[in-house]
Amino acid sequence: MPASRRGSGTITLPTGMTLNYHTRTNEEEDLPHATKKTMADHLRKFETLFTLTPQRMRMIVDAFTESLEIGLESPGQVVPMIPTFVFGWPSGHETGEYLALDLGGTNLRVCLVTLNGGGKFEITQSKYRLSEEQKHDDGQKLFNFCADCVKTFIDSNIGNSEEMIKSGVKLPLGFTFSYPCSQDRIDHGVLLRWTKGFSAPNTEGQDVTALFRKALEDHKVPVDLVALTCDTTGTLIASAYVNPKTKIAVIFGTGCNAAYMETVKEIPKLKDHGFASDAEIAINCEWGAFDSYKHEHLPRTKYDVVVDESSNKPGEQAFEKLISGRYLGEILRLVICDLIDEGVLFLGQNTYKIEIPYSLDTAFLSLMESDPTDELLMIIGIFTHFFALETTLAERQFFRALAKLIGKRSARLSACGIAAIVKRKDLLDEGCSVGADGSLYNKYPGFADRVHEGLQDIFGDKGLNIVTHHAEDGSGIGSAIIAAMTKQRKEAGLYPNY
Ligand code: BGC
Repeated sequence: MPASRRGSGTITLPTGMTLNYHTRTNEEEDLPHATKKTMADHLRKFETLFTLTPQRMRMIVDAFTESLEIGLESPGQVVPMIPTFVFGWPSGHETGEYLALDLGGTNLRVCLVTLNGGGKFEITQSKYRLSEEQKHDDGQKLFNFCADCVKTFIDSNIGNSEEMIKSGVKLPLGFTFSYPCSQDRIDHGVLLRWTKGFSAPNTEGQDVTALFRKALEDHKVPVDLVALTCDTTGTLIASAYVNPKTKIAVIFGTGCNAAYMETVKEIPKLKDHGFASDAEIAINCEWGAFDSYKHEHLPRTKYDVVVDESSNKPGEQAFEKLISGRYLGEILRLVICDLIDEGVLFLGQNTYKIEIPYSLDTAFLSLMESDPTDELLMIIGIFTHFFALETTLAERQFFRALAKLIGKRSARLSACGIAAIVKRKDLLDEGCSVGADGSLYNKYPGFADRVHEGLQDIFGDKGLNIVTHHAEDGSGIGSAIIAAMTKQRKEAGLYPNY
């Protein structure tokens, strides 16, 4: 037996962090055969629970397409299909300097974007990690923090903000606020509901641009908020700026969502708005809400039900809860805790650490799946360092297989969402590029390949016509391009509408 199988050692995670590990002295060679067999039996059970057949995927796609269509018919539907007031594609010739503020699920970013035209740009940015308190504290406080960060950024990268205020200078800013907001202008948006675990009071039902403008004024920040957008719409526009074949944008990160361009005459709920019927308008699908409340179409396991019911928004974001980075680690943790309760795992060990909700980060699933060692040293490191638990090789192989099942289900469901938009827009024969971004898409090993496999399972060989690619930074660059497009429309007398 190799020496590394027993005793202690250190491994370094791809993040640079060093973990100490130690293995059990009685590795599986010494364990009764029944232990290995039990793990294999359990794995078969979970394979059945988490595997999506092509036939099931096609049924989901049909229901999904119908939900998108219902959302376009009238306001207030489960999948809200929000018209974003971003009219048409960028020309690629948009130029100028814009600030962009990106309030995502995990970080706050302030960017200065210089659009040089010809699909070229430069960006300078600062990033701040949001604390859990900020997600749950009063909404106005969150926007005050945003205003404060913008002011600090201006002072350090552009010039003295007090002087700018005195001389009446205002810098145009695009605000990427990645939560569902209903809009009736590009620079306005009422928060329908928080997602991704946020619950800041006094914000749902409010115009978030008014809250942010108040904060900008109170903090004397020389900024003019010209456009409110969401990360998917930004990604759609930023992707098209550099790759005109882009037709759809998707985010697979802490949350998940998609945007695409729809013709006004195909949107019954806009029929009285007086827009040109052949105008195109970007739709923020907010597809994370698919199958919410009634739960008729998605294959939810008992673990998914617990994730949902113990969340701060039970019933909501049903699709997102099976797919996105905020939840995958928690699903795996719940499976492990169930097996602890059944007396299958970690007998005689103190399991309190892994019993803490959300203690198993989705990044651990990525690490487990990408562990290159035969002994699965990365998994040893994760369990000893973060949960003070010792594991056998059979258990580690089981955890890795579970991570794979959960990660694969997420990617295959994501393929169902993309396929629904492809069907809705009849894009299968001509094919299209799908601009994609988010931590799952960018960092989870094999995620994009699994999405592509899923598209082939749904559409057969024609699925090869739909190709995802890593998109440009939609929340920064996209937001700046949208601000530039808004400026052009204002100059052409087309604001607020088309
Ligand atoms: C939000 C969307 C956002 C997505 C990805 C979801 O929770 O509702 O607005 O685009 O996360 O960030």
